[in-house]
Amino acid sequence: MGAKRGRTMTAPVLKPDADAIKKAATCLLEGGLVAMPTETVYGLAGDATNPDAVARIYRVKERPVFNPLIAHVASIETAFGQGRFSEAARMLARHFWPGPLTLVVKATHTTTVCDLARAGLETLAIRVPAHPVARALLEATGRPLVAPSANPSGRISPTSAAHVAADLGTKLDFILDGGDCSEGLESTVIDARGEAPVLLRPGTISPNDINAIWPGLTRGGEAGAPISPGQLLRHYAPNARLRLNAAAPGPGEAYLGFGPGDATLNLSPSASLTEAAANLFSMLRKLDETHDRIAVAPIPEAGLGLAINDRLERAANRD
Ligand code: TXA
Ligand code: MG
Repeated sequence: MGAKRGRTMTAPVLKPDADAIKKAATCLLEGGLVAMPTETVYGLAGDATNPDAVARIYRVKERPVFNPLIAHVASIETAFGQGRFSEAARMLARHFWPGPLTLVVKATHTTTVCDLARAGLETLAIRVPAHPVARALLEATGRPLVAPSANPSGRISPTSAAHVAADLGTKLDFILDGGDCSEGLESTVIDARGEAPVLLRPGTISPNDINAIWPGLTRGGEAGAPISPGQLLRHYAPNARLRLNAAAPGPGEAYLGFGPGDATLNLSPSASLTEAAANLFSMLRKLDETHDRIAVAPIPEAGLGLAINDRLERAANRD
């Protein structure tokens, strides 16, 4: 199986028909790595029960081993067998799964997700994705699959098969091409272990959406050590220097617009936050290829704008 040492060719990019799903599932069961589309971003999938496959994921991403991975499973019932879910956590799960929500719960003693995938923690981050290709792959393997975003650690997450091929193409076995990701931002991560939910990573499921099902949401890990390593200050980063809340570009800057007006690229000419989220990572990548400095238009700090600004602030942070 690949992630083969010495591979110099880009892994095959497959149209995700039944044959390709079968090939990819066999590869995963043998310890290989497959890039799979999800509704949020592309994931670098490996068998969560296989420590060798998980170790390879960390190596390929150059990811610090203390940063745990999200386990993806085919059904809510499977998820409930892997972790301890409170009644409230179950309500969130039933309401938002399949979909772009990750819940952090205590792992059961019988969880099949290996220690390395959980970075030795007693917790487990888990979600049931909605994308039909991810679902087909999970069903075909019958295993939980860990799938961090399919980018080198700290870089921009991929929202197309071409992004994955460019970043990690020589380091994995297959890339399943499911087109552009509909959400474009990584899943909302909620610590669901306590009396009230704690937001560890904002995403397209907003704080209001969560509060409507399980009230009392607080924002976790602002001060001190990040609870969720995805809270690391610099993350999702392009090479270019980013200037946020810019009303207009300065000399030599590309302008990433939002709403009507001139821009090098526009996240959403009609000022739709949903469209902006879906375009964010691919437009940052495009501008990063041609410019050293990028000015970004102000994004309203409400609803989905919270998640977009969260990613922009991390991308801009040069500490
Ligand atoms: O949308 C997504 O979640 C994508 C797709 C592929 O599913 N995956 C993704 O994975 O973004 P990754 O590995 O790039 O981000 C996982 C986030 C990190 O911030 C990690 O620190 C956090 O989840 N995480 C994982 N396990 C955790 C745990 N046990 N406790 C707290 N945070 C955890
Ligand atoms: Mg990531």
